Amino acid sequence: MEDLQGKVAVITGGASGIGRAVAERAATAGMKLVLADIEEVALEATANALRGEGAEVEAVVVDVADGASIEALRDRALARFGAVHLVHNNAGVGAGGLIWDVSEADWKWILGVNLWGVIHGIRVFTPLLIEQKEGHIVNTASLAGLTSPPFMGPYNATKHAVVTMSETLYRDLQVVGSPVGVSVLCPAFVKTGIAESHRNRPEWAPAPEGDGPEMVSGVMQQLVAAGIEASAVADAVLDAVVANRFYILTHEDSIPAVAARMEEIVEGRQPTQLPLL
Ligand SMILES: NC(=O)c1ccc[n+]([C@@H]2O[C@H](COP(=O)([O-])OP(=O)(O)OC[C@H]3O[C@@H](n4cnc5c(N)ncnc54)[C@H](O)[C@@H]3O)[C@@H](O)[C@H]2O)c1
Repeated sequence: MEDLQGKVAVITGGASGIGRAVAERAATAGMKLVLADIEEVALEATANALRGEGAEVEAVVVDVADGASIEALRDRALARFGAVHLVHNNAGVGAGGLIWDVSEADWKWILGVNLWGVIHGIRVFTPLLIEQKEGHIVNTASLAGLTSPPFMGPYNATKHAVVTMSETLYRDLQVVGSPVGVSVLCPAFVKTGIAESHRNRPEWAPAPEGDGPEMVSGVMQQLVAAGIEASAVADAVLDAVVANRFYILTHEDSIPAVAARMEEIVEGRQPTQLPLL
């Protein structure tokens, strides 16, 4: 999608971190914004900040894990702006632990947001973009969708799923001859609120207690704090949309870990240990 001026961007997880940075970058490019997030106060603050800079913004409280919520988001976007051109399925949460220790509730919470959120986004918005014969879908995965770092079982599972769903979406659109573009975003650590994902835990998924989860959470906070700026990720996303580039890998120093995994698979070797991503 070469010309972003006047086009409409729908961004989930738009209140914070990568979603907010993409919204800021999209507004600078002249796009109208539909920001969707579960955190109402942060959402309103972000929307108001962008309005203050002159952007046209519709703010919609959603739970991406709920299909009806995403259908309502599409309807609100169409009611306000009449079209949707860029869909960024970006909302996500993380929690760590040894894979066998993760509670059933945590699996359901993380799969609900990171996996079902993207499923609903693809299901609800793709037909609209196909009908318009124009548009681009960006799905936020992670480098953890291309490797399998320890302590991140449910997160890794969802991010691998987002990579393969994005590749399938790309190929399915080619099969039907649609010009709609697709990208999958695979960053390593970015300075955002992801290590405080517990702020959005549903009541039925209480935080696990004990030294293990606390240790993982502390390490995560440090790694995220040492990550790259979300604005750099947003630049890469908008560049990929304009250039119609599929894979968005923002951390060059992490690419050898992806290559190593591919080589281990094709050469039949044991997986080598990885540091936490
Ligand atoms: N920060 C990193 O290091 C990193 C690395 C790779 C991938 N990612 C991915 O980037 C995406 C954005 O995360 P971020 O790092 O900006 O973190 P963030 O916490 O700053 O932003 C995530 C946003 O998603 C929202 N959200 C959470 N649950 C939701 C739900 N059920 N419905 C709607 N919105 C919900 C949160 O309120 C928040 O505004 C996620 O998919 C994450 O997995 C982040």
